[in-house]
Amino acid sequence: MTTGATEREQWGSRAGFILAAVGSAVGLGNMWRFSYVSAQGGGIYFVALYLIFVAMVGIPVMTSEFAIGRLAQQSPAQALKRLGGDRWSPLGWLFVFCGFGILSYYSVIAGWTIRYSVDAFRHAIPTDTAAYFGAVSTGSGAVVGHLLFMAITIFIVLKGIHKGLERAAIIMMPMLFLLIIALAIWSSTLTNAGAGYGAYLNTDLGNISFMSVVNNAVGQAFFSLSLGMGALMTYASYLRSKENLGKEATIVAMTDFGVAFTAGLIVFPIIYSFGIADQVGMSMVGALFIALPAGLQLLGSSGDWIVLAFFIMLFFAALTSAISLLEVVVTAFIDHGMARRTAALGAGMLIVLAGIPSAVFNLNLLTAIDQIVGNFLLILGGLLTAILVGWKLLPQADAELAQGMSSKTARKGWALLIKYLIPPVLFVVLILGVIPATWTSIKTLFGI
Ligand code: TRP
Repeated sequence: MTTGATEREQWGSRAGFILAAVGSAVGLGNMWRFSYVSAQGGGIYFVALYLIFVAMVGIPVMTSEFAIGRLAQQSPAQALKRLGGDRWSPLGWLFVFCGFGILSYYSVIAGWTIRYSVDAFRHAIPTDTAAYFGAVSTGSGAVVGHLLFMAITIFIVLKGIHKGLERAAIIMMPMLFLLIIALAIWSSTLTNAGAGYGAYLNTDLGNISFMSVVNNAVGQAFFSLSLGMGALMTYASYLRSKENLGKEATIVAMTDFGVAFTAGLIVFPIIYSFGIADQVGMSMVGALFIALPAGLQLLGSSGDWIVLAFFIMLFFAALTSAISLLEVVVTAFIDHGMARRTAALGAGMLIVLAGIPSAVFNLNLLTAIDQIVGNFLLILGGLLTAILVGWKLLPQADAELAQGMSSKTARKGWALLIKYLIPPVLFVVLILGVIPATWTSIKTLFGI
């Protein structure tokens, strides 16, 4: 215990830490979920509500995770036990379970991006992208993609915080930003770009209930900001320097929003310019993996280069997120005395196995696991974290934040939100929205 503090790894620089945290947040959720959820439920109202949630719930919860992580200098399971007492240690293990569970199917989707990139490069994506997607999204091809993606993720994580995670983020994130800006500019030149923007940011509330828009916004915020399972807590546990954590959380959250918003500006003009909007409705993944390449196929071989750029961007986004999911599991084992190498290989291999059913069976399984782990358990984790920090650890967390965050008013505002606003809001969302939705997806999975 006493030697732990001196041997523990550290981020090399403030920029490295921020880019790694942004890398965790910016992921498939930004590209694959945000604009789709927006177009399906509330358009511009969804976006506005989402921003309110990011400000009132997301940033304060992220700030709390950062504070606990930096304060404890330990994995969440150890940290929560030491700071909160034995009763809170299961929450840390719930985080590990979530990291494990999310990565198992996240890696399957990320594996598709490898397949799409390779096939775009070889000009081998057929015009019937629905059939193509059906063939590559499940079965042996999907297993290969999943294995390959996990192998790369494990390789980076076993290199460690500074040489692995930080370096990966410093290389991939700037490339991702460049690609996304270039693609958004290209998309805006398409003939029907305006119709696409209109569908994305529609003002049609239709028959969507307010509660379901709230529900989608909260679920999306937790998933996209990597909250509720100690990922950013783990990252902050490798931070020693006393930065302003409230400011870092704001930078991370706003960059994440910017990327998600821009991704919608890319996808929707393509879908509308090529008149393939009717293909989008079928599933969450339909927009990205079926409609988008179908539209770009109409451009002939130059379209393949756009497909390639898009899926490489998606791959970078997925990879920097996946390493944070694996790191939560790996740090927990390292803190129990295991070597990083053993922990990364062992945990990685178990996740490979756990993901195989998602790769082999139909998409209902993947969707159900996403709903249970990627939505229900994250919001539950966020609720419990807010209760612990707001009601038990407030003095310690506030003292930690005071190092670097000198504004007393900002800290006071944060404390009020984390104590009085966030727990009841998350509780209501959980009971009225998330639990019924989770139940529905379990019933769909079993056909009842
Ligand atoms: N935020 C990532 C995305 O948007 C996914 C992710 C990475 C994540 N780490 C996480 C989600 C931790 C929840 C918790 O795709």
